[in-house]
Amino acid sequence: MKPVTAVMVGAGQRGLYAYGPYALEHPDELKFVAVAEPDPERREKFARMHNIPKEMQFETWEELMEKGRIADVVFNMTMDRVHFASTMRALEIGYDVLLEKPMAHTAEHSAALVLMAERTGRLLQVCHVLRYTTFFRKLKELLDDGVIGEPITVEHKENLVWWHMAHSFVRGNWRKAGTSTPMIVAKCCHDFDILYWNIGRKAVKIHSAGSLKHFRPENAPEGAPESCLDPCPVRETCPYDVHKIYLNMKIKGWPVNAITNDLSYEGRLRALRESNYGKCVFHSDNDVVDHQVVNIEFESGVTVAMTMNGHGFEESRTMRYDGPEGTLRGKFDYRHGVIEIHPHFWGKSSIKVDVPPSESGHGGGDFGMVRGFLRSVRGLEPPLTSAMNSLESHFMAFAAEESRLTGRVVEMENYRSEIMRKAEEIVREWTGRRR
Ligand SMILES: NC(=O)c1ccc[n+]([C@@H]2O[C@H](COP(=O)([O-])OP(=O)(O)OC[C@H]3O[C@@H](n4cnc5c(N)ncnc54)[C@H](O)[C@@H]3O)[C@@H](O)[C@H]2O)c1
Repeated sequence: MKPVTAVMVGAGQRGLYAYGPYALEHPDELKFVAVAEPDPERREKFARMHNIPKEMQFETWEELMEKGRIADVVFNMTMDRVHFASTMRALEIGYDVLLEKPMAHTAEHSAALVLMAERTGRLLQVCHVLRYTTFFRKLKELLDDGVIGEPITVEHKENLVWWHMAHSFVRGNWRKAGTSTPMIVAKCCHDFDILYWNIGRKAVKIHSAGSLKHFRPENAPEGAPESCLDPCPVRETCPYDVHKIYLNMKIKGWPVNAITNDLSYEGRLRALRESNYGKCVFHSDNDVVDHQVVNIEFESGVTVAMTMNGHGFEESRTMRYDGPEGTLRGKFDYRHGVIEIHPHFWGKSSIKVDVPPSESGHGGGDFGMVRGFLRSVRGLEPPLTSAMNSLESHFMAFAAEESRLTGRVVEMENYRSEIMRKAEEIVREWTGRRR
C-alpha cells in the first residue's frame, strides 16, 4: 500500500508533536513530502524528522500553494485566524484537508469553508478529536443502545485545569478573542460537537452568560509587578508564578515547549522576558472569559446546561445524562474514564475506559483522528463526521458567544440561515477575487 502523501502547514504544537509523529509510526499510511512554517527552527526540525528536502520546505502556506497540488492532502495546523484563507486556497487547488478546530474565526467563514468543500468536491475534516477517543465512542454506544432511554436533560462540564487556563487563555495564544477566537469557540466547539453527536438533533435556542472574573488588574495582589520575573511579594504562594511553571527543568514538553524551542534554562528565561508568557496573570492583556455557562434547547425538547470553567483542580470533562429509564454519569480526564449507569430500579453498573499510556494525545483521539481521515481519503470508510456536522458545533459556539455579549436568546434557525447567506457572499467574493 502506497502511503497518502501530505503537506504540513504550520509545524507548531499540533503539527510537530500531535500529528507529525503519526507518519513516523505508520510510514506505510502517511508520508509528509513538504512543510510550510515561518519559524525556521520548527520548519527545519519537522523537515529533519520527515526527511523533507530543502526545495520542499516553505516559509508560508501562500508560498507552498503557489506550487499547485504537490501531494494528496493538506494538514492545516496553523493558528485559528490563518485557517480560513489557507484552507480555501487548498480546497481550490484540489487538496483534501484535515483542518484544526476551530474551523475559522467567525461562523460565516466556517460555513464558507463547508460550501467551498462542497463546491470543489474535496474532503474537509475538522479535528474534533474527542469523537475518536474510546471514552466518547463508548458513551455514544451506550446512549444509542438506549441504556437510559432517549436523554431528556444533560449536564456537561469542561473543566480546564487552572495552569492550562493561565498558559493558553491568560498569557498565551488564545488570550484575546480578536487575535484568535472567543474562548467558548476555541475550547468548547469539541463539547458542542459531542453534545450534537449524542443528542442527534439540532439546537433550537441558545442562551449564555460568563465573564473574565479573576484574571484582571484589580485582582492583582498588592505590589505584584507587571512581569512575573521581577521581585514579587507573593511569589512563594502564587500558583501562577512562572518560575514554578516554566523554569521547572523537569518539564521538557508542553507547556514549556510552546514558549520556546530552546529548552535550556537561559532559553526559557529569554522567552519569558521577551514574550507575554512572562507576564503576571493579573497584568496581561487578556480579554477572553474564565468561566461561561450555556443553556441549550434541542429540537426534540432535550435541554442541556453546559459549563466551561478555567479554575479546575484537574483537566477533565464531566457529564450527566438523565433519561426516562435511568441516569448515566461520566468523567474523562484523557487518561482515565469512567461511565456509571444507574437504571431506574435495577441498581448501578460502572464501566472503566482507561487509556493506555502508549496512546497518542487527547486520550488517543489525535492518532484516531488521523487514522480515520486517511481511511476516508483512501475511500475505505466514510468519515466519522462531516464538515457540515462540525459546522453545527461551531454555530452553537459562536451563537453562545453572541448571546453572552448581547444577553439575548439566539434562535438557531434564523441564526443558521443568516450565517449561510453571509457564507455564500464570502465564497462569491473569494472566487470572484481570484478570477
Ligand atoms: N484539536 C484539538 O484538540 C486542538 C488542541 C490544541 C490546539 N488546537 C488548534 O490547533 C491550531 C494550532 O495550534 P498550536 O498550538 O499548534 O499553535 P502553534 O502556534 O504552536 O502552531 C501554529 C504554527 O503555524 C505557523 N504559521 C503561522 N503563520 C503561518 C503561515 N502563513 N503559513 C504556515 N504556517 C504558519 C506558526 O509559526 C506556528 O508554528 C489552533 O487553531 C488551535 O486552536 C486544536
